[in-house]
Amino acid sequence: MKLPPVLAALLSLNLMSAAYAEDPHANHHDAPAADGRAVLELAPGERAMILEEMRMFLGGVQKMTNALGRQDMPAVAEAARGMGQKMVHEVPPALRAKLPQEFRQLGFSVHREFDQIALDAESMKDVSYSLNQLSAALQKCVACHASYQIQVPLHSAAH
Ligand code: HEC
Repeated sequence: MKLPPVLAALLSLNLMSAAYAEDPHANHHDAPAADGRAVLELAPGERAMILEEMRMFLGGVQKMTNALGRQDMPAVAEAARGMGQKMVHEVPPALRAKLPQEFRQLGFSVHREFDQIALDAESMKDVSYSLNQLSAALQKCVACHASYQIQVPLHSAAH
């Protein structure tokens, strides 16, 4: 029997939703997700220090995309430089010792990259080029976030 077009369309929709249900990511919002990322065990103050730096990154990305949208290359360079080496604070030795080397290297490489982005924004004044560089730098944010989480042990002294 030849199906009327509406019914055929409904059937294929149904097949699509069946395929969707088999997708392991399709309904992950109903169940608590397992967090397989490596744990950095930090004191509350150490966690606060890192998260503050992270929020500065996000603020810098916001400023930079705003400047790119306006094609204001000096402002692009300024926003990028704000996320460069000059953003790096003295890391207390106790905190430094708790951060794996790969974590620190990834962090430094992001700062170095933003310094390069600032230089190139000034010399090339090319919005697309800067956007591509920003996208590449954001890949590192994504990669680090996929690998690490911070936990504060319950017995940790509050400071
Ligand atoms: C070397 C690793 C690393 C890099 C690189 C990195 N982050 Fe993070 N970021 C972290 C970790 C670890 C956390 C805490 C995640 C958790 O505990 O779930 C975090 C948290 C954050 C948060 C949440 C802050 C809060 O107050 O809760 C923001 C926003 C953020 N990062 C933005 C960025 C942006 C934007 C970049 C890139 C420009 C970036 N991060 C690069 C490791 C990194």
